[in-house]
Amino acid sequence: MHLPKAELHLHIEGTLEPELAFELAARNGITLAYADTEQLRKAYLFDDLQSFLDLYYGLMAVLRTEEDFEELADAYLARAAAQGVRHAEIFFDPQAHTARGVPFATVVEGLGRALDRSEERHGVSTRLIMCFLRDQSAESAMATLEAAKPHLHRITGVGLDSAEVGHPPAKFAAVYEAAGALGLRKVAHAGEEGPAAYVREALDVLGVERIDHGLRCVEDPDLVERLVRERVPLTLCPLSNVRLRAVDVLAEHPLPRMMAAGLLCTVNSDDPAYFGGYAGDNFLAVQEALGLHQEQLRELARNSFEAAFLDGGPEEEAL
Ligand code: ADE
Ligand code: ZN
Repeated sequence: MHLPKAELHLHIEGTLEPELAFELAARNGITLAYADTEQLRKAYLFDDLQSFLDLYYGLMAVLRTEEDFEELADAYLARAAAQGVRHAEIFFDPQAHTARGVPFATVVEGLGRALDRSEERHGVSTRLIMCFLRDQSAESAMATLEAAKPHLHRITGVGLDSAEVGHPPAKFAAVYEAAGALGLRKVAHAGEEGPAAYVREALDVLGVERIDHGLRCVEDPDLVERLVRERVPLTLCPLSNVRLRAVDVLAEHPLPRMMAAGLLCTVNSDDPAYFGGYAGDNFLAVQEALGLHQEQLRELARNSFEAAFLDGGPEEEAL
């Protein structure tokens, strides 16, 4: 699916393909708990978000040097470009790396090297969004924001990810306020496994501009009406929702109903190495399983550019 599109929900660590994981493991003298790529791929059967996160954080052990992060990002950008992605807003999880002794600077400078060359090499413009792990403390998130300060020229915004249930957005009110004061854009995962109330809280308490996933908003008609009225973008990830069992089968995904309700939906890949497809594969999958027409696919692609952080931010828009 080569329709030009922006990808707005993509965890760079979730683009670590088994082949690259083994290559980096060998280079860094790390022994993986799997015999080969085939055995590793067989482990990609998830019951829920947590069972995925356990594997996802574990495999990150192979990422150690700037070169590792550079290669990871460059490989993603090449694949994304081949599927029609023209702009990518890329999440990374600094705490998942600093907790293992990899400095913040190593991660951001390594990713930055690939991103600096992306337009020229792949024709893909980029933004970087650092995510706080919501199952870690608010203090740890604040320390992460502090560590980011020397690198803010590389970072467009903040996000919130990891295990959702039991970790409501309000826990991170202070760090989002501080991020906003630094001029950073704000997004958060909400309503993936967590309730519609977390979507409201992300809007009201954190002041986010986009909701990542937001799937469970459909359980709350008043919230849907508000999201439509305020044109809040939702970065949906259909193949992820199937693999993490947020929906039983793709044919039952609420995307067509959400679009019909007037929600500003976008389609993204989340963690493509784990969930069976990149951005174009997600477009193709919803076209086939949900019978979306060309005009609906074009609407999704248009929405992705409307929802992207390609402008100067809320302050500029207010001028
Ligand atoms: N981290 C990586 N992928 C994620 C997802 N789908 N939800 C929450 N945290 C994540
Ligand atoms: Zn995600």
